[in-house]
Amino acid sequence: MTAPLSVEYLPAHPPVVLQDKMKRYEKFADEIAELIRTGVLAAGEKVPSVRHASRTYGVSPSTVFQAYYLLEDRGLIQARARSGYFVREHAKQPLPDAQSNPRPAHTTDVDVSELVFSVLGSLKDPNTVPFGSAFPSPHLYPLARLARSMAQSLRVLSPHAVIADMTAGNPDLRRQIALRYMVSGVMLPLEELVITNGAMEALNLCLQTVTQPGDLVAIEAPAFYATLQVLERLKLKAVEIPVHPREGIDLQTLADSLAHLPIKACWFMSSLQNPLGASMSEEKKRALYELLQQHQVPLIEDDVYAELYYGTQPPKPVKSFDRDGLVMHCGSFSKSLAPGYRVGWVAGGRYAEKISRLKLMTTISPSVPAQAAIADYLQHGGYDRHLRKLRHTLEMQQSAMLASAARHFPAQTRVTRPSGGYFLWVEFPEQVDSLQLFQLALAQGISLAPGPIFSATRRFGNCARLNHGHPWDEASERAMEMLGRIVTAM
Ligand SMILES: Cc1ncc(COP(=O)(O)O)c(C=O)c1O
Repeated sequence: MTAPLSVEYLPAHPPVVLQDKMKRYEKFADEIAELIRTGVLAAGEKVPSVRHASRTYGVSPSTVFQAYYLLEDRGLIQARARSGYFVREHAKQPLPDAQSNPRPAHTTDVDVSELVFSVLGSLKDPNTVPFGSAFPSPHLYPLARLARSMAQSLRVLSPHAVIADMTAGNPDLRRQIALRYMVSGVMLPLEELVITNGAMEALNLCLQTVTQPGDLVAIEAPAFYATLQVLERLKLKAVEIPVHPREGIDLQTLADSLAHLPIKACWFMSSLQNPLGASMSEEKKRALYELLQQHQVPLIEDDVYAELYYGTQPPKPVKSFDRDGLVMHCGSFSKSLAPGYRVGWVAGGRYAEKISRLKLMTTISPSVPAQAAIADYLQHGGYDRHLRKLRHTLEMQQSAMLASAARHFPAQTRVTRPSGGYFLWVEFPEQVDSLQLFQLALAQGISLAPGPIFSATRRFGNCARLNHGHPWDEASERAMEMLGRIVTAM
C-alpha cells in the first residue's frame, strides 16, 4: 500500500520570442473555426458570403476565398452550388460547453492509485471500445516510416554513440528539438535540453529536482491522474488549483495560495490540458509566469499535446516568456509521432544540470536506437506533413464525437470543445455516478475514464473523459448510443 496523498486546499481570496508569421487568411480561417467550435456558427448555417466578409472584416475577397478553402480542407465547412459556404452538418445542436469548474471544497487525505490502476487495467482488452484510453489509434502514426529510420540510423550509428549519447541524449535529436522550439518562438540553449524516457520521466525528474518529501506542490483540479500518482509516490502534498474548461487554471486562487502557502513547485499544463483540453491565452501564460517569477516558484510545464493543435499556429508555452530559467518545459514524441518509443525531453532551464545528473543516477538513458530513429525521422521523414494529417484526422473525429454526443446524451449534458488533442470532457447530469457508469459501460464492452481518477479528492463524480483518437465507425456510434441510454436510466 502506498501512503495516502495528503491534499490541502485553501479557499480562494481575491488573490526571446520570434515574430508571428501567420498569414492573414490563416488568421481569418482560425477566427471562423473558433466561431464554429464555440457554436456561434451552428451546423448547417451559412458562413458570411465572400463579398460580405470582405467588406465587414476589411480583408480582400481573395483572402476570404483562401480562408474558406482552408476551412473546407479542414472539414469544417462545405460549398453548396450557387449558394455559398455552410458549416458542415451535425444531426443536432451541439451540447453546451462544460461549465466553469467550481472551487474545490476543503479536502481530506486520499489514495488514488488503486482506483487508477483498476481503471487502466480494464483498458487493455482490444475488443473494448476505447473511449477511456489515454492513447489515440496507433494507426495514426508513421510506424513503417519510423522503422526505416530506425534501420537507416543504426547502419550509420557510431559504436561510440552507445556510450556518448547516454547522458544528455543524441546530439542530432537535441538539435532537431531545439530547431522546433525556435520555429515556435522559443530560443533555447542546447545545454538546457535533456532527453528522457518519455515525458513521464522528465516530469518525475523535474519534481524530484525541486522538492523534498512533505513539500507542497500546486497541481490542477482536475489533473492528469499520473500527476497524482507521482505526488503520492514522492510523498508530496498537493494544493489543488481549479481549472476552467476553456481558460485554464484560476490565477486568482494560485496567487492567493502562493501568498499564503510555502509552495515549492507548480505542475501545470498551459495548452490542451489533460483532461479538460483547456488552453490558456498568451496574456494569461505571461501573467502566470510573472506571478511565479515574483515568488520564485519553479514551473514544471507539461506540454505533451503541444503538437496536436487544430489551428494554424502552435500555442506558445509559458516557457516562451521565461527570462531566468524558472520553467522546466516537458515534451514528448509519444502523442505526436512515436508511441512506445518512450522518447521525451525536458528543457530544464536553470535546473537542467541537476535533472541530467538525477537521470544518470536512475535510468541512465533512454534507448539509444530509439533516439537515433527519431532524429533521422525528424530530418528526413516529413514530420510536419504527418502532423498536419494527424491534426486534421483528430479534428474530424472530434466533430464526429461531438455530433454523436449531441444525438445520444441527455440535453443537460455539457461538453468541452478543445482546440486540439483527442479528449472530450463530459459533464453528465448531477445524478450520474461516473464510477458506476464506468462499470456498467465496461460490461457492454465500452471503456471511459471516470472523473474521480483525475482528482486527489475523487471529485468530478458526474464527469468522464472520452477519447476520440480512434477512427469513427459504427461501433463508436453504437457505443455512444449505449452510453446515452445508460446515463439516461441513472
Ligand atoms: C498530460 C500528460 N503528461 C504526460 C504524459 C506522459 O507522456 P509520455 O508517454 O511521453 O511519458 C501523458 C500521457 O498520457 C499525459 O497525458
